[in-house]
Amino acid sequence: MTDSHVAAPAPATLVRTPRARRYAMTRPEFFAVEYAINPWMDIATPVDVGVAVAQWDALRTTYVRLGHRVEVIEPVPGLPDMVYAANGGFVARDVAIVARFRFAERAGESRAYAEWMSSLGYRPVSTRHINEGQGDLLLVGETVLAGYGFRTDRRAHPEISAALRVPVVSLELVDPRFYHLDTALAVLDDRTIAFYPPAFSAAAQHQLQALFPDAIVVASADAFVLGLNVVSDGLHVVLPAAATGFAAQLRAAGFEPVGVDLSELLKGGGSVKCCTLEVFP
Ligand code: ARG
Repeated sequence: MTDSHVAAPAPATLVRTPRARRYAMTRPEFFAVEYAINPWMDIATPVDVGVAVAQWDALRTTYVRLGHRVEVIEPVPGLPDMVYAANGGFVARDVAIVARFRFAERAGESRAYAEWMSSLGYRPVSTRHINEGQGDLLLVGETVLAGYGFRTDRRAHPEISAALRVPVVSLELVDPRFYHLDTALAVLDDRTIAFYPPAFSAAAQHQLQALFPDAIVVASADAFVLGLNVVSDGLHVVLPAAATGFAAQLRAAGFEPVGVDLSELLKGGGSVKCCTLEVFP
């Protein structure tokens, strides 16, 4: 007989453990939508920088409240997309890889992010081929999942693997609305992901199903508010508040969703993860 007053203990696999993280973010002081390099950007849409800064600051304080360390990178005038710090590169242990951008509009960011890496004591490494940092390179445990098809060049993947000394799994993106891997796939902990299958080629979908049989499959309604563009500490998953279906899936899987409103930054085609570069120990 079960006692209905006593909640059943969660199965061991559902006990989620948070880990204190270190993030870097760039204040959207010079944010604008002045050019369109992804389908989310419409130069006719007005942008309110004051709102963007307030939403960004709420994200920053959310991380701090969850016990994480956040470093703020100086924004540079004339680089309106610099707020999407995830694209600045990839920093793990003693290695800092700096981004090489697909579009000329963002090329100047490489120097700004390289300077920030140098200020931390790294000697930033460049790749020969295009890599848009943690927009397309997501660490799961000891493996990097690497997107290609729109931004990062597939030929940069072996360069990334060699520099970081970790295996890289190349995944093809096929829908221009999900142009970076972090718009279509979320890393929740060292072995758990969520993804939106239609954003991937059939081969990539099979690879993901084989590697992550317990992956959370997210619905279109959530994917189309960039609901997968999240930052997780292993327990708390900071995600766009509009992704309510995904939030319910996360709760059912033992995570704690923390919704934030980044509607102003969605106008540039980014959300929570895009605004956050994780520095891995
Ligand atoms: N406007 C930026 C671009 O198109 C948005 C980048 C979003 N970043 C991301 N990690 N998905 O490059």
